[in-house]
Amino acid sequence: MGVAIVGVGITKFGEHWKSGLKELIMEAGIKAVEDAGISGKDIELIVGGSMSSGMFVGQEHTGALFTDYMGLSPIPAIRTEAACASSSVALSTGVMAVKSGRYKCVVVGGVEKMTDVYGNLATTALAGAMDRDNEAHFGLTFPGVYALMAQRHMHQYGTTREQIAMVAVKNHENAMHNPNAQFHRKITLEDVIKSPLVADPLRLLDCSPIADGAAAVILVPAEDAKKYTDTPIYIRASSQASDTLGLYTRPDVTTVGATINAAQNAYKYSGLGPKDMHLAEVHDCFTINEIIGTEDLGFCKKGEGGRLVQSGETKIGGKIPINTSGGLKAKGHPVGATGASQAVELVEQLRGEAGGRQVKGAENGLAHNVGGSGSTVVVHIMSRNRK
Ligand code: COA
Repeated sequence: MGVAIVGVGITKFGEHWKSGLKELIMEAGIKAVEDAGISGKDIELIVGGSMSSGMFVGQEHTGALFTDYMGLSPIPAIRTEAACASSSVALSTGVMAVKSGRYKCVVVGGVEKMTDVYGNLATTALAGAMDRDNEAHFGLTFPGVYALMAQRHMHQYGTTREQIAMVAVKNHENAMHNPNAQFHRKITLEDVIKSPLVADPLRLLDCSPIADGAAAVILVPAEDAKKYTDTPIYIRASSQASDTLGLYTRPDVTTVGATINAAQNAYKYSGLGPKDMHLAEVHDCFTINEIIGTEDLGFCKKGEGGRLVQSGETKIGGKIPINTSGGLKAKGHPVGATGASQAVELVEQLRGEAGGRQVKGAENGLAHNVGGSGSTVVVHIMSRNRK
């Protein structure tokens, strides 16, 4: 049985002074429900991702929070947690629930409210996604983890500081056309290279920001999809893979094995390959990770990700536009909401509703969402066509 997305909703990403966790969830959820033209009584299950709501706002048990504040009790709700991949795991769980035949209408989403704590507590909460005993305990931070990957990639493949910065410049440019993006500010290569150093070689403008936000999508069986909309978007593959929790035990830190595994399974399952993709949302929590991701997803050979971004082929209008939404870098990265927001971007693009950032004729798209330093990776492939 296939699965389709028939409704999407997203909040603006950024700092929300007036909205807490529940207001963000409700805004995204209600937009998705309205977009699908359904009502609360049609919904049979909620699956929602949140990475660290307990540390960020002191609220756990977000499954119950989702059903309560959306007025959907007594339907069941599941919270998924896989660090920054929390809501892609929610999406793959929702896909399984529909495929099982038990549920015919499932809301999948994600939320995070990160800006209510000081920077050092946010860094501590995020460090919970790495190996606490063997990495965070010794002072390693997330910018530090990706800085190590960047250093090695530069050493091994000759990737340049400028090429890494080009990811940020491109994604800030794309975000100019995304009304829900955190940053609407064009930046130059010089801005990136002269921005304050965070973890060598990564600078402020190489990092995704701390953000609040939520996103949601409505899943139904593919055969029912046209009852809801003329333009359902079909989930052609939903694939998750794991790797070691810590970076320090990996044989090669310039590649993310779980991306390769998840992508290969997704390509096999969908019958589509990297050359069939018209766009991709690639997990650019730090600029270097977009370069590594484009390689591991097969959009270029290993080591050539820097040259790919330099060639301009990952811009809108290029061979494989990457992060048309602005990516985590410029759209923002409220960690538990990011996977669901990637799904929203693919749906808007594949429906032809992405406005100034529209990829012309887009029929197939891929979303790549990473938890931690690559310990969890989820890849979704979506299409306008059912098969
Ligand atoms: N990109 C662009 N601008 C950013 C930014 C980013 N990532 N982070 C902050 N800014 C801007 C702010 O808007 C602010 O601008 P203003 O002075 O014009 O208002 C300025 O920089 C300072 O912001 P501040 O919040 O004080 O920054 P900070 O030093 O506390 O935090 C980082 C900056 C990079 C350390 C923080 O964003 C961070 O930790 N990012 C990584 C998050 C992460 O690890 N996520 C998980 C990935 S696996």
